[in-house]
Amino acid sequence: MRRGLELAALGPAVGDHARVGAVILSPDGEVLAEGWHKGAGTPHAEVDAMAKVDPALLRGATAVVTLEPCNHVGRTGPCAVALLDAGIGRVVYAVDDPGDQAHGGADRLRAGGVEVVPGVLADEAEAFLERWLTSVRLDRPWVTVKWASSLDGRAAAADGTSRWITGAAARQHVHEQRAAHDAILVGTGTVLADDPSLTARGDAGELLADQPLAVVLGDRPVPDDAAVRRHPRGLVTLPGHDLVAALRALRGHGVHSVFVEGGPTVASALVAAGLVDEYLVYLAPVLLGGPRTALDDLGVGSMPDRRRLHVLSTTSLGPDLLVRARPHHAAPGHDGPTNDRSTT
Ligand SMILES: NC(=O)c1ccc[n+]([C@@H]2O[C@H](COP(=O)([O-])OP(=O)(O)OC[C@H]3O[C@@H](n4cnc5c(N)ncnc54)[C@H](OP(=O)(O)O)[C@@H]3O)[C@@H](O)[C@H]2O)c1
Repeated sequence: MRRGLELAALGPAVGDHARVGAVILSPDGEVLAEGWHKGAGTPHAEVDAMAKVDPALLRGATAVVTLEPCNHVGRTGPCAVALLDAGIGRVVYAVDDPGDQAHGGADRLRAGGVEVVPGVLADEAEAFLERWLTSVRLDRPWVTVKWASSLDGRAAAADGTSRWITGAAARQHVHEQRAAHDAILVGTGTVLADDPSLTARGDAGELLADQPLAVVLGDRPVPDDAAVRRHPRGLVTLPGHDLVAALRALRGHGVHSVFVEGGPTVASALVAAGLVDEYLVYLAPVLLGGPRTALDDLGVGSMPDRRRLHVLSTTSLGPDLLVRARPHHAAPGHDGPTNDRSTT
């Protein structure tokens, strides 16, 4: 299974598909073939692996797969049927497929007489697939919210200028994060204030291979000459302020992960609605003071209502500091730690 996860990681990190790996073993444990999913519309990992083996050797073999074999006819046929047809004797997998249409592969295999072993290295596979699993389970993309701020938590100077709060290393890291998400989202306020291109670029300003879809949220029109209208992946505008509907609409565009780059109004609305899965906060060693805070009202009237986070990592990027954090989900009825932890 650990090898399966390595193979899964060879698949494209973004796109409308789960990254899945598979290993076919002979009855005495010899590796017969390996496979992985190379993107939407291509064979699933177990089918990719089986195609590399003499069909006679598949009878009674074991298929080790990082995700429960699917049970639906999408762009490819159901993998459960392909495994049954091949005469596979045992299927070992890590995580159940949460999809409405795709789940049920394990039951179908069992009904066909195949021994099924679920849950092997489930925690590792769950962590590896967390964005995709979140998007399928919640019917909304994984949401990463990023902001860059001064140490005193300001995202812009008093006149609204925010270029550049952080240095080159932090900004390059942001571009890599853009490329690692399916979409990048801002509100109309940021488009009108900054005219951002919302592309993922390298050190020399060149476009990176993976470009997120550009998404602008809000009612005011995006100007005809806005840079984002020339985005290489295209622009999706989502009028209105209904965040749940907007995120669901992005699933219709095949988006499993969104990188939210603000500004403060949209970021705060997402936080207040409990729709954030991860925070990337780039802190610059400058002080700006003034009214332009990175987040505005979150509906926290008093300390018991504070939004608790837990810090996954702190990383130095040149003179700046990146704090990666996630919502802290306390057990029901338990206040949980305050997470007022210092970073070392
Ligand atoms: N430091 C950073 O990391 C960073 C990042 C981005 C921006 N900024 C700075 O932030 C400033 C712009 O701030 P901003 O807050 O106006 O930008 P914003 O959050 O990008 O846009 C706010 C607008 O989004 C629309 N909107 C869509 N859904 C909404 C919802 N659920 N709730 C409320 N509004 C919603 C509204 O416009 P409609 O009336 O059109 O519907 C609202 O006025 C600029 O100074 C920019 O430089 C800083």
